[in-house]
Amino acid sequence: MIPSSSRIFTSILYAASLVVADNPISPGFAYGTEKVRGVNLGGWLVLEPWITPSIFDNTSNIDIVDEFTFGQLQNHSTALPVLQNHWDTWITESDFQAIAAAGLNHVRLPIGFWAFDVSGGEPYIQGQLPYLQNAITWAENTGLKLIIDLHGAPGSQNGYDNSGQRLPFPTWQQNQTDIQRTDAIIKTIANMVKDKTNVVPIIAPLNEPAGYDGQQMLDVVKQYWYDSYGNIRYPYNSSQESNTVVMLHDAFQPLSYWNNFQTAPGWQGVAMDTHIYQMFSQELVAQTNAQHIQTACAYQTSLAFDLWLIVGEWTPAQTDCAKYLNGRGNGARYDGTLANSTFVGSCTGLTGSASTFSSNFKTFLRQYWEAQVIAFEKGGSGWIQWTWKAENADEWTYSAGLANGWIPQDPTDLKYPNICD
Ligand SMILES: *[C@@H]1O[C@H](CO)[C@@H](O)[C@H](O)[C@H]1NC(C)=O
Ligand SMILES: *[C@@H]1O[C@H](CO)[C@@H](O)[C@H](O)[C@H]1NC(C)=O
Ligand SMILES: *[C@@H]1O[C@H](CO)[C@@H](O)[C@H](O)[C@H]1NC(C)=O
Ligand SMILES: *[C@@H]1O[C@H](CO)[C@@H](O)[C@H](O)[C@H]1NC(C)=O
Ligand SMILES: *[C@@H]1O[C@H](CO)[C@@H](O)[C@H](O)[C@H]1NC(C)=O
Repeated sequence: MIPSSSRIFTSILYAASLVVADNPISPGFAYGTEKVRGVNLGGWLVLEPWITPSIFDNTSNIDIVDEFTFGQLQNHSTALPVLQNHWDTWITESDFQAIAAAGLNHVRLPIGFWAFDVSGGEPYIQGQLPYLQNAITWAENTGLKLIIDLHGAPGSQNGYDNSGQRLPFPTWQQNQTDIQRTDAIIKTIANMVKDKTNVVPIIAPLNEPAGYDGQQMLDVVKQYWYDSYGNIRYPYNSSQESNTVVMLHDAFQPLSYWNNFQTAPGWQGVAMDTHIYQMFSQELVAQTNAQHIQTACAYQTSLAFDLWLIVGEWTPAQTDCAKYLNGRGNGARYDGTLANSTFVGSCTGLTGSASTFSSNFKTFLRQYWEAQVIAFEKGGSGWIQWTWKAENADEWTYSAGLANGWIPQDPTDLKYPNICD
């Protein structure tokens, strides 16, 4: 399944990294000392139906459920200008300025494999790369650190629409050609930013591989993490290291599963990303608001880990009510409109425009936001909220939180500093 050549490559690089065991890297941000405080630029270079439902609704074809089908089921000449307009307007340099002004130090930018390679005949529409270059320039101009996050791999690594292709079961892990194409993209990205560590300190080689899908997926992911270490940390040659940090994802496994994985001194510059959401199961979405806060506070003690641990996605939303959050055409667990879910409460007033939110709900959003910030900073190396903007799901967005008062203008200016005591 795994070609021996890549195993050998990995062990050569492993040996090389052992030689420099006492030579920690200088990534341009004091990870582990300073707290990462950031926001994701979701729904920009990777479309997500729930972030921009209008782009999907405007197609009036209910089979267009992700960026793959957006390209597949429309003429190129219809789809391309819609995407170009979106890329030009959804995130601009003024967003970077607002993010920096809000006291944040990182942005995480999801991008799909198809920006680099559609040689498998995938129907995606290309054109994202100049916007990635713009983002790097804007990060440099505003002093923000940019994390490049490969959010979709060929064949899909999780089957979520946010991987580009919504599938009942992912196929990336079953296809050696697709895995090698992904390795090549990571090499391209690593080479692009290897001398810009001060602006792009981190590459995240794959978002949310579905480790719960079984041992084969986990075996492929582990090998892919070894190969990614070589590709990101040695972009020059096998004896010259970069200062770029590799951010792994926990593949939805408990952190203990990854104990001793790529740890110092043999490995340098590795961070672990974990995503914390409290709404994607019936049990979680049925918690009371007080229980959500209690669950958040418990992370103060459960994020201790032997790598830099960054909560790379989380949200102050406590329900899955946002339209299309579970996929175009699917309802929510919270109000029982998703298949096999049980009604907890009405979604009215819990999603959409902040102008419809009660002052009690806004107070809860502030408390829950602060509880998570406290826990993720105490327990880990920091946090990156999902997400900066959404068309009509203010409960999720950092920008709406700033505008409506449930997120402070300075993320250290807490109103409920003792909420987890
Ligand atoms: C909506 O779709 C039409 C084609 O059906 C296209 O011309 C138009 O640009 C689209 N508008 C948006 C905002 O996506
Ligand atoms: C593409 O455009 C042609 C000509 O306008 C039209 O006949 C065809 O139905 C379109 N195909 C799709 C998938 O929209
Ligand atoms: C593997 O993916 C490639 C595209 O990268 C495709 O051409 C090929 O058919 C796939 N193989 C299988 C067995 O699905
Ligand atoms: C590796 O790359 C570095 C940086 O470009 C260079 O200084 C060094 O000579 C190279 N080493 C080898 C063995 O090619
Ligand atoms: C709902 O539950 C039934 C019975 O357990 C199962 O067959 C079906 O696949 C489930 N549907 C979804 C969408 O999860």
